[in-house]
Amino acid sequence: MNIKKLLSKKIHQSMIQAGIPKKYNVILRSCKIKELGHYQINGIISAAIDLNINVNDLAIKVVKYLNLKKIVSKITISKLGFINLFIKKKWLSKQINLLITSKTLGLTKKIVSENIVIDYSSPNIAKEMHVGHLRSTIIGDSIVRILSFVGHNVIKSNHIGDWGTNFGILIAFLKLNNKKLNLLLSDIEKLYKQAQKKYIEDINFAKKARLYVVKLQNKDLSCLKIWKKIVDITMDYNYQLYKKLDIKLTCFDTMGESTYNNMLSNIIIDLKKKGIAINNNGTIIIPIEGMKNIKGGLMAVIIQKKDGAYLYATTDIACIKYRYEKFKANRIIYYVDARQNQYLKQIFHIVKKAKYVSSNVKLEHHMFGMILNNKNKPFKTREGKNIKLNDLINKSILKAKNIILKKNPFLNKNMLENLSYKIGIGAIKYADLSKNRINNYIFNWDKMLSLHGNTSLYIQYAYVRAISLLKKSNVNLKNFLDLEICFINHYEFDLAISFLDFEEIILKIVNEGTPHILCNWLYKITVLFTSFYENCNILNINNKILKISRLKIVFLTSLFLKKGLYLLGIKTIKKI
Ligand code: ARG
Repeated sequence: MNIKKLLSKKIHQSMIQAGIPKKYNVILRSCKIKELGHYQINGIISAAIDLNINVNDLAIKVVKYLNLKKIVSKITISKLGFINLFIKKKWLSKQINLLITSKTLGLTKKIVSENIVIDYSSPNIAKEMHVGHLRSTIIGDSIVRILSFVGHNVIKSNHIGDWGTNFGILIAFLKLNNKKLNLLLSDIEKLYKQAQKKYIEDINFAKKARLYVVKLQNKDLSCLKIWKKIVDITMDYNYQLYKKLDIKLTCFDTMGESTYNNMLSNIIIDLKKKGIAINNNGTIIIPIEGMKNIKGGLMAVIIQKKDGAYLYATTDIACIKYRYEKFKANRIIYYVDARQNQYLKQIFHIVKKAKYVSSNVKLEHHMFGMILNNKNKPFKTREGKNIKLNDLINKSILKAKNIILKKNPFLNKNMLENLSYKIGIGAIKYADLSKNRINNYIFNWDKMLSLHGNTSLYIQYAYVRAISLLKKSNVNLKNFLDLEICFINHYEFDLAISFLDFEEIILKIVNEGTPHILCNWLYKITVLFTSFYENCNILNINNKILKISRLKIVFLTSLFLKKGLYLLGIKTIKKI
């Protein structure tokens, strides 16, 4: 149930009855000051100004037609014309009780299931994943969880960089140095750097490298063998990393650039035939109308170089066509950093123009900013190198371990390992997910591993409190499903009413791909739960009805925290 939607619908009806034209939408907000009401209607004021009517008179009229007797206990009108609504305890009690047995935690909106491809993580081969891949991987994974939760058919797509000139360079270098292929990823990375240097400095080597690119494109067996080995070594390493991070990507989701290689020549022919691509002195380009380059000249995307080589863009065009034909994609979402925004816009424009997808397919770039250090510079090692993802994860786990040991020095080893892992990984993920992805964010170890404030540990800790209360109570709530929840103070009420925002939050993320609003909501629930926990007696009360009622609120808190963290890809803990 979406409480705001429910109220808004009824309010809109009464606005129309009060003579306000239909186009005026209801603006309904939760009240910050609870004494004023639980919800506030703000939309009346602008209508009154436009219609030249006294705000108060119009508000009174709207209230006269409001049909909210079952839901609302009191309605007040402020001097400025705001209408404040107080939610009925009895109504809330009924809604909250229903949540206890709801499999979807109150998410009742029927979703028309869509085929949604999520393009995320997508590291490049022959390199260890570094901190630059963190955001795409973590945000993409959370969105996969959320879209699946509401009932969409999600196709995870790891568009790894496993094709192109780089492979020619690497293969040429390995052959030249007679290198055996039983290498570690760190060796490959080093060799790759040496190979790139040689490619720039040595013309003959560069020629050879280009020859190997063509050989690889033409499926030369010996080249393919080396290529496959390099891809396997890199991805085996990455799969371990995904597992460690509890990211849902496996080898079945890997559809790298090489997947589309066979389609590329036909794509070029077709785009030329359709008059979309043109030959510009031997280079095949697609001019983009309506977009200009920095110098004010014509903007164009190159799809084939003079030497016949295809590009990143050619692959992305083919890839969208493939996703539409093979997966019947209704929507394709890219979790790729903001620097590729213009590039992706061009690709989307091209595939729509070429009719490779039907016009109602949604192509979305959910971009994100960079991770910065405390000096507002890109987050790198002291030597200015990229921070390896694995090193970052290990450091977080180690820091979590020290925090736990301070709190609980005698914890057994297994427990300590398990807890530090869940807390360490949770902290990295939450620090990222809790920021609006559009912006850059500053990486701060102290803040992200704090027991207080908007952190995963604060939420994980509240969960521990909730489940230990439930355990200690020894009450089986299933035996008391019919017993009404009673609200005798605002701690109970404020927490309970916030549960009803869950559907609205989740559906917003489904549309916009913004997990930070789930983080903010979980944080709000945690703050409210902490006040409730600290101010209300739960276990040591004689009034059995009140005790069960409060336990129900604790139980629901635990469900929401667990589900919320799961949807972010973060594990709960049972103890600290
Ligand atoms: N491998 C690319 C990079 O590291 C990201 C790929 C994003 N996905 C895509 N379909 N272009 O920049």
